[in-house]
Amino acid sequence: MRILVAGASGGVGQAVVDVAAVYGYEVYAVSRSPIRQHVWRKIQVDIFNTAAVMMAMESGIDAVISCIGMQRRNPANPWSASLSPINLTSQAAAVLCGSMQRFGVPRIIAVSAAGVAESAVRLNTVMKVMLATTMIGTAYADLARMEQVLATSGLDWLAPRPTRLISGAPTCRVRVTDQFATNDAIRRRDVAWWMVDALSVPTWPLATWGSRTPQITADAMPT
Ligand SMILES: NC(=O)c1ccc[n+]([C@@H]2O[C@H](COP(=O)([O-])OP(=O)(O)OC[C@H]3O[C@@H](n4cnc5c(N)ncnc54)[C@H](OP(=O)(O)O)[C@@H]3O)[C@@H](O)[C@H]2O)c1
Repeated sequence: MRILVAGASGGVGQAVVDVAAVYGYEVYAVSRSPIRQHVWRKIQVDIFNTAAVMMAMESGIDAVISCIGMQRRNPANPWSASLSPINLTSQAAAVLCGSMQRFGVPRIIAVSAAGVAESAVRLNTVMKVMLATTMIGTAYADLARMEQVLATSGLDWLAPRPTRLISGAPTCRVRVTDQFATNDAIRRRDVAWWMVDALSVPTWPLATWGSRTPQITADAMPT
């Protein structure tokens, strides 16, 4: 299996590169910042460099995993200004899907978030206020548009919606759930593992996932 990882320099992206190596997959890493891992191929470009993305896609890619996400000036402050265009994830998906359609790459997984689109009704009042007033809400609105881009692409797609992302070693114990509490969390390495493992599932979505946008969280609360 040969996979293209977009956003390979990010927290989830780096973990995807590591997990893919364990699965014996060849990785074509696409990132703006350099990545430390040894991979089959890598290019350091903006995702909106369509020509470079097309060139990468032309090299016999079987599937794409996109870990691209909006970045804030101060990541710890949800009110901090965005360093990214507010349509980053939806437009990145459009670039990836367009290149995939052109070169016959059939499958894409892109990281979304718990609370996006119709799953917002499950958020508690504090989270709803946060989404209405901060850059997190701006990012979630674009993740909903990203899911629409995937859904209308004609490609085989998945957009897992992880709960709050945290660091830590992988546990490989991930639960798909309709419900989530504000303090639910999942390790970035477990999100990466779930996505890479999903590539070995021949038909998406599995009945146990319920949809192509399953909410995923740690099976047991990580400490
Ligand atoms: N934080 C949470 O609790 C949470 C919860 C649920 C879902 N999520 C989603 O999960 C995503 C991944 O999380 P993370 O922690 O891995 O984020 P991250 O470390 O900020 O990674 C984001 C990646 O996007 C890349 N990127 C941004 N703009 C780009 C562009 N124009 N062209 C190419 N690459 C670009 C960055 O590349 P460079 O660094 O090389 O520029 C980076 O690799 C989040 O962004 C969010 O959408 C987050």
